[in-house]
Amino acid sequence: MQNSLIVAIDGPSGVGKSTLSKMLAERLGYINIDTGAMYRTVALALDRQAVSPDDVAQVSALLDTLDITFIRSGHGEKVLLNGDDVSEQIRTPEVSRLTPIVAAIPRVREAMVDRQRRMGKNGGVVLEGRDIGTVVFPQAEVKLFMVASAEERGRRRFLELQQKGVTVDLQETVREVEARDRADSERSHSPLVKADDAVEIDTTGLSIEQVLERMLDVVRSRNTNRV
Ligand code: DC
Repeated sequence: MQNSLIVAIDGPSGVGKSTLSKMLAERLGYINIDTGAMYRTVALALDRQAVSPDDVAQVSALLDTLDITFIRSGHGEKVLLNGDDVSEQIRTPEVSRLTPIVAAIPRVREAMVDRQRRMGKNGGVVLEGRDIGTVVFPQAEVKLFMVASAEERGRRRFLELQQKGVTVDLQETVREVEARDRADSERSHSPLVKADDAVEIDTTGLSIEQVLERMLDVVRSRNTNRV
């Protein structure tokens, strides 16, 4: 059995994908690739260069000059845009609003999918996003599709913001989660859909450790080497 698998993790925002993908990659000794961070970085670059997402020629030109790299830093990882650490800047509300628009541009998706395939082709990777098991690596040995109710995801986001001292309305946060789900699921290019052969994991009401155990169970079932 192969030891260096490709693990594809998809699902809507707020489902715990980022945290769990990192934990899973660490347990397996694999590289973790946060593909949402790549789309966020493109959005930041467009914003910085004042390029309109509608200007296909300029978007293409900018994509050709973009260098996006991930580097390890302690237990976390940093995202570099042309050598500059943008890990914090790609998480601002402005970039979060711009990213779904940028991620819907076919030229952007083609360029990112191409990079993701090159980064993951040798296996030993966990890729996390929306279209990994369907578009990027339909041949991935392990495909997980994570879900949780919009209420639960809104509540998690609400608590996260509260911890950071940001005051928001719970119902409003749930509505935002639902709106983002619609934008991701209804776009014409690579919408969020579960691959037929993906294993669905509903994280509603489960602890992080419980979800990680379920994920590891699926990986173990595809790999006779002990993990
Ligand atoms: O996972 P995230 O919140 O960082 O993703 C940011 C945006 O990028 C979100 O609108 C979904 C989009 N995205 C995508 O279209 N395809 C991916 N593979 C990953 C993220």
